[in-house]
Amino acid sequence: MNSLIGDPLKVGVIGAGRWGKKHIDEYSKMKDVELLWVSDLSEENLKSCQEQYKVKNVTNDYNEVLSSDVEAVSICTSNETHFDVCKEVILAGKNVLVEKPLTLQSKKAYELVDIAKQSNRILAVGHIFRYNNAINKVKKLIESKFFGDLFYLRLQWTIQWMPQIYPDKKLDIIVDMMPHLYDIMNYLTGLWPEKITCFGKDFVKKDLEDTAFIICEFSNNIMAHSEISWTLPEKVREVDLIGSKACAKIQAVSQKVTLFEGSNEGRKLDIKENNTLHDELRYFVDAVKNNSIVSNDGEIGAKTVELVEATRKSLEQRKTIVL
Ligand SMILES: NC(=O)c1ccc[n+]([C@@H]2O[C@H](COP(=O)([O-])OP(=O)(O)OC[C@H]3O[C@@H](n4cnc5c(N)ncnc54)[C@H](O)[C@@H]3O)[C@@H](O)[C@H]2O)c1
Repeated sequence: MNSLIGDPLKVGVIGAGRWGKKHIDEYSKMKDVELLWVSDLSEENLKSCQEQYKVKNVTNDYNEVLSSDVEAVSICTSNETHFDVCKEVILAGKNVLVEKPLTLQSKKAYELVDIAKQSNRILAVGHIFRYNNAINKVKKLIESKFFGDLFYLRLQWTIQWMPQIYPDKKLDIIVDMMPHLYDIMNYLTGLWPEKITCFGKDFVKKDLEDTAFIICEFSNNIMAHSEISWTLPEKVREVDLIGSKACAKIQAVSQKVTLFEGSNEGRKLDIKENNTLHDELRYFVDAVKNNSIVSNDGEIGAKTVELVEATRKSLEQRKTIVL
């Protein structure tokens, strides 16, 4: 099944919408990858993939990808399809990177983790912030105890709702954004929340939360506060980290880090900005080629789905959920 050393890795992409096209773009630029198949339900998307990225084979039936000799598959379909598509892809013997959220139900996410283990295949999840140079720089500083004891994290993930992109999607902001934020919390602290309290509102569209405030409590007295919203005009992707000796502000999109020691005005770090999706896919391709493990694995993906469920439960039951 594994390519011979020196052979390009044969890759397929299922789901060629907004985000899937970015996977296709990255794979098509990798010299040691042969992007063999792309599947999407829309003929228009398939046509543009052939024209723009010179994809060899396109199909609206992803079974053709399953029966082909691709060894690795990116799944970028809509969230509700992730479980079925991913299960079939692994059972067809392929290694897989599924976009976040891994599934919509944690029980199903853990089922995928088991299936991947039994099949001895890689199950990676699109937790892209693990590949962000600014976040990685701060992670290293945390590990070196630069910040002293961690007190709390403040995360802000806000942007104006884009109805032209999501006209009729039944997608609330908690399901859409929190997988990333829980992953970042875990990546930086090495911990998962033990208690979650969520308040949220459906300001724009009835019964679809577009704004939420989520408080997480961890062991070691650490806390995290997340503000997520589709009502703020500016695109903000920020993590503030507050410790006993120093603090940091990470601007995740522009990959800027400012450090604060004492009450000074802050010192900007020189971070070399990276293409996070490229690095995530590069790492996946290398893991498939070398049969090595990935850090953004299925268990991480499944845990974030479990925490998303707890967050929604807290919102619906108006109480703190103890995990
Ligand atoms: N990691 C990130 O930062 C990030 C960013 C954006 C989106 N995403 C994730 O990527 C996924 C796709 O998001 P999007 O914005 O591209 O959505 P989209 O609606 O633009 O694209 C989804 C595509 O999947 C296709 N599709 C659905 N069912 C299919 C099937 N059975 N076979 C083949 N194709 C099928 C649709 O035709 C559509 O083109 C979502 O899970 C989303 O959460 C992740």
